[in-house]
Amino acid sequence: MSDMANQEYLLKDQYRDATNFTLRVETLQRMGVMQGSWYRWIFDHIQIPEQSRVLELGCGPGFLWRENLDRVPQSWEVTLSDFSPGMLEAARHNLEKGGEHFAYQVIDAQAIPYEAGHFDAVIANAMLYHVPNLAQAFSEVRRVLKPGGNFYATTIGDRAIAELGTIMQQVGYGTWLGSPFGFSIENGGQQLEHWFTHVTLDRLEKQLLINERESLLGLVRSGMSKQEQQDATKLHAAQEAVERLLQQDQELTITMDFGIFVASN
Ligand SMILES: C[S@@+](CC[C@H](N)C(=O)[O-])C[C@H]1O[C@@H](n2cnc3c(N)ncnc32)[C@H](O)[C@@H]1O
Repeated sequence: MSDMANQEYLLKDQYRDATNFTLRVETLQRMGVMQGSWYRWIFDHIQIPEQSRVLELGCGPGFLWRENLDRVPQSWEVTLSDFSPGMLEAARHNLEKGGEHFAYQVIDAQAIPYEAGHFDAVIANAMLYHVPNLAQAFSEVRRVLKPGGNFYATTIGDRAIAELGTIMQQVGYGTWLGSPFGFSIENGGQQLEHWFTHVTLDRLEKQLLINERESLLGLVRSGMSKQEQQDATKLHAAQEAVERLLQQDQELTITMDFGIFVASN
């Protein structure tokens, strides 16, 4: 289809009114795979003055920024960092349009190569539970933050992990991304209070109903190693286990329990 014909189709059919699009978005949100709402919710909590230097640790594919580009003041100097160069590459790609002025840097959260007081805000989104030496990471974050600057750290709750863990066990995998988690909603506040004077927590809980095999299998696959994912026998076993689970229960509920800590001195 030519560009013109495609435009015509979109205008007169697919996007003639909001029905199709609204249905699509609502379905995705109900399944919990819509990234937008989660990243918008996080950004709602981020209060950073104009002319600020902002560091994100473990930025992954840059979704926080992609989903909130319209809310990022041009005056912010944003450094997106991750210890995985592959993740940074994905972030750069995802932010090709609109994120040209962001800087990208390979950084391990446990050794931040900046002088003391360099940043006005540091963000660590769903990544601290992967960091082996959390004390080292917190010490580094505190060091590079200006006095009064905020540290934003999001994570999930034990309940969410427990449910995912149970499903993984039922399909033959013992753990969910190597849980137990060293930084969760339940244990995060106490840890942060060791390094920061002011610590607050805001929570977002929602129930995800998983009633179709592709969503559930996707969830299971995402918790498997790349090697396991390439193992046809393991994949087949996971597929069969997912079928069995859905036959037993028809619908599986997962409580997604997210939280954002805001910490400062
Ligand atoms: C679950 S992903 C979250 C990605 C992103 N923050 C988001 O919420 O969309 C965790 C990320 O943390 C990164 N990561 C894990 N350990 C890290 C470390 N020690 N230092 C920096 N990044 C790390 C991983 O490479 C990955 O991109």
